[in-house]
Amino acid sequence: MNKRFLFSLACAASLLASCGGNEKPAAEPPADSATAKAPAATLPDTTKFKDVVDGQPTALYILKNKNVTAAITNYGARVVSLIVPDKNGVPTDVALGYDSIGKYIHQPETYFGAIVGRYGNRIAKGEFRLNGKTYTLAKNNGPNSLHGGKKGFGSVVWTGKQLDDHTVELSYLSKDSEEGYPGNLKVKVTYTLTDSNALKISYEATTDKATVLNLTNHTYFNLNGQGSGSINNHTLRLNAGQYTPVDSTLIPTGKIEAVANTPFDFRTPTAIGSRIDQDNIQLKYGKGYDHNFVINRTAGDRGLTLAATVQGDQSGIVMNVLTEEPGIQFYGGNFMTGSNPLSNGKKDDYRSAFCLETQHYPDSPNQPSFPSTELKPGQTYQTTTVYQFGTK
Ligand code: GLA
Repeated sequence: MNKRFLFSLACAASLLASCGGNEKPAAEPPADSATAKAPAATLPDTTKFKDVVDGQPTALYILKNKNVTAAITNYGARVVSLIVPDKNGVPTDVALGYDSIGKYIHQPETYFGAIVGRYGNRIAKGEFRLNGKTYTLAKNNGPNSLHGGKKGFGSVVWTGKQLDDHTVELSYLSKDSEEGYPGNLKVKVTYTLTDSNALKISYEATTDKATVLNLTNHTYFNLNGQGSGSINNHTLRLNAGQYTPVDSTLIPTGKIEAVANTPFDFRTPTAIGSRIDQDNIQLKYGKGYDHNFVINRTAGDRGLTLAATVQGDQSGIVMNVLTEEPGIQFYGGNFMTGSNPLSNGKKDDYRSAFCLETQHYPDSPNQPSFPSTELKPGQTYQTTTVYQFGTK
């Protein structure tokens, strides 16, 4: 049986509408287990996610199609597990996660799989002005505010509702002044596992006062399987001819620069680590890759666009990232230390995962030349990002 979990870029471009018919069925785990390179990944025990946090119940929701299984918790609206078949059909968990709610609360790494908000990435000096008023945020990353502050959207309990085998809806009310941000903000995140082996994340929000908003998902991926070593031999393609260089505290300088002739040029598939040790001030500031890339788009286009393609060198698993956002943060796991136990018993070693966080550019509230992140009363914030899987 050689049924392959085939991947098609052409399919990615028109992903939501028409992929189903082009896909070949996924591989079943090989009958001869000797051909399997890694043990089959299993889901964490759902009972370890039944807890009460801040007086509210937590749970693990399982989404399934015939090839892919995703586990989502309402604690931080997080992706806990994302199991996809590798080139031999072996179920492989490509998302780093813990095995219990307790670890999500107490372990030092707090962003595994999380929805990040109110503002994903950094706001300089923990301060911004909006309509003539200055708002002050917690400085939780050197002089800056990172990922929504001390207790961002990844560390609160959302209200979860599983709609069917493929869909879970998570809602949260972020109250006026929470973490210093203005306005009562109603947020809804819907995870859908589509027939084309994609995890689709749809974000929606409204506010009763003008505010700033930049939601993203912070899943740490290793396409060879969580805890399986360095991601530096994964190949990455970014559909980005420009990026936003940063200062030494990782705040954009405001310039938008071409990636050509720099180690930031991933316009053709390139091993992540092949240029990481080059003598480059931006790589020094980021301790490797930790930068926002400007996704190539025609002027005015806000449609779903292919932003990134990554391939696991051992598994053959390919992931496409499509988004309606203008930017994508490529973070290469430079701050990982191996001090967090993963759900399969492995550790989160240095650079053993990468994140591709679709977003508006960092520090936009203080950078008038960047696309605006303001949300006004009466407007609805709506954005979609898709992580689609296959093998090559
Ligand atoms: C983002 C940031 C990084 C780092 C990680 C979390 O990707 O850009 O600098 O803070 O989150 O460790």
